Amino acid sequence: MPFSSPKILLGLSALTILLFGVSDVTASLFNSHKRSPKALGFEFKKEVSRNTPLANRLRKRQKTVAANIDNAEIAYLINMTVGTPGQPFSVQLDTGSSDIWILSVDSDACGQDEQACKDLGQFDSSASSSYVDDTGVGQFEIQYQDNSAVTGDYINETLTIGNTVIKNMRMGLALQATRPFGIMGIGYDADESIAATSPTDVYPNVVAQLKAQGFISTLAYSLWLNDLNSLTGSILFGGVDTAKYHGNLVVLPVQKTNGTYTDFTVALSSVSVLDCSGAVQFSQTNLALPVILDSGTTDAYLPDSVLNPILSGVGVVNDNDYGSIVPCSLANSPATFSFGFGGSSGLNISVGLDEFVTPIFNEQGVQPTFKDGAGTICSWGLMSSGTGPILLGDAFLRSAYVVYDLTNNQIGMAQTNFNTTDTNVVEITGSSIPGASITASAVMASQTFSGIPQETNANTKTGSTKATAAHGSPTFNLCGSATGSAAQGTQGTKKGAAFAAGPPRMEVTTVITGLVVLVSLAFGSSVVLLR
Ligand SMILES: *[C@@H]1O[C@H](CO)[C@@H](O)[C@H](O)[C@H]1NC(C)=O
Ligand SMILES: *[C@@H]1O[C@H](CO)[C@@H](O)[C@H](O)[C@H]1NC(C)=O
Ligand SMILES: *[C@@H]1O[C@H](CO)[C@@H](O)[C@H](O)[C@H]1NC(C)=O
Ligand SMILES: *[C@@H]1O[C@H](CO)[C@@H](O)[C@H](O)[C@H]1NC(C)=O
Ligand SMILES: *[C@@H]1O[C@H](CO)[C@@H](O)[C@H](O)[C@H]1NC(C)=O
Repeated sequence: MPFSSPKILLGLSALTILLFGVSDVTASLFNSHKRSPKALGFEFKKEVSRNTPLANRLRKRQKTVAANIDNAEIAYLINMTVGTPGQPFSVQLDTGSSDIWILSVDSDACGQDEQACKDLGQFDSSASSSYVDDTGVGQFEIQYQDNSAVTGDYINETLTIGNTVIKNMRMGLALQATRPFGIMGIGYDADESIAATSPTDVYPNVVAQLKAQGFISTLAYSLWLNDLNSLTGSILFGGVDTAKYHGNLVVLPVQKTNGTYTDFTVALSSVSVLDCSGAVQFSQTNLALPVILDSGTTDAYLPDSVLNPILSGVGVVNDNDYGSIVPCSLANSPATFSFGFGGSSGLNISVGLDEFVTPIFNEQGVQPTFKDGAGTICSWGLMSSGTGPILLGDAFLRSAYVVYDLTNNQIGMAQTNFNTTDTNVVEITGSSIPGASITASAVMASQTFSGIPQETNANTKTGSTKATAAHGSPTFNLCGSATGSAAQGTQGTKKGAAFAAGPPRMEVTTVITGLVVLVSLAFGSSVVLLR
């Protein structure tokens, strides 16, 4: 892994968590339905932000985090309970991995950060009557890119999400971990960590168990992360919500990795930057790049050949303390990226530049400025994939409604319909994704349960209030934004606007230059964002 920048972002010491409340609208309706329930939706509502102390390592998951700096951490967390009676957890929903793991109350992580474990969950096996120590499969272990690891035991437990009770769910119980909350991996079974060492021990993960236990009829789900600043988002297991996107879903075949389906890899065929009038500022077409769609990654990682012209066009500069930075005013630019998939018969997804512009705060909660006084600096989230995989994370995925069909090894994709309150849930049954090609016989589905995507964001830095760098000079027409001199004061950006209410910033990532600094900004649980 190349570290082209002096900054290695190690961790978040504090981050914003925007909890999503859930309305349980349809469960009973669904349960009384004659047919077995075939799609399970989590409707989320962001309610609260609060400070969450995190461990000092940003997750660097094998095969998924490729670059040296991850300037903003946005994690979509889902609520669930484990055991009998259920013990509550908030875990990160991750399309880029395939195991569920939770922290043990006896873990080192919980010893170090009791509050985080109280808030986000810690499992006490002695308090569960359904606990089974799954000794047959050895130790649970996931390696991280930075050589850290999560290790523990495999257990079989009752996993409850909303009203849905999954029995005999195998998961990892972490005893050593460098993260303060667990993960719910919803990728292919073949990507489970056990597959690397003991392929015959691959087991049904949560998506497979939902199907095996009759809750859904196809190994598929749809993810609507929605707008960065929005109040709602959802995951729908077993179905498609045709109201949540514009136009038609376009089906893209999942690309195999070394001959098997392990990741949600699709073919990226073009990348363009368009200005406010739609004029092309930059375009590379006829690409055939394997990109992984990974909700466990915050930003995006592209190869240098595509990335470098964009960095200079946008005027990204590299700062000794703060890494790749741009004026925060760039987030006001109406310029957009267009990511093309599947070639001429595929589709383009339009993504606002602001998705890649994230506020930075130093440990005093102050936003640093360029050394030439050209306004506040923000992190730039489009980074080099280096020798690692090309990844499109949440910064991209918010703009795309994505159907992950693990049965038929295909992805359905369309432009997100942001902020819609409409819903039209269609079950995924056969070999096609409804609304994409052949319309499968569909059933209205509607169990809603207590998922919570949780969003975390931004940057705290051990740095002065002045960057060492002066602002750059974009060569793209960014329509009056991000020329540096125009950037004044706080980020009055689309993204910034939602974060702007109330000092200090909620979203905090810690960028570390050489040493780990834990920064804890004071936000009470009374701090409510985005109401
Ligand atoms: C999710 O869990 C967190 C932590 O226990 C809790 O604060 C929050 O209210 C829960 N959200 C929902 C919608 O249940
Ligand atoms: C735990 O669950 C796995 C996968 O579902 C199953 O194969 C295994 O037999 C279970 N182990 C025990 C001890 O119940
Ligand atoms: C969606 O709603 C959020 C919160 O109200 C708002 O900040 C954002 O601009 C909206 N997005 C769009 C595309 O309308
Ligand atoms: C694919 O196989 C090659 C050769 O065995 C190996 O070097 C590489 O790491 C594999 N890639 C992945 C993603 O597993
Ligand atoms: C996507 O955009 C690229 C260039 O920006 C264009 O060449 C391509 O034809 C578009 N693809 C589709 C399916 O419209």
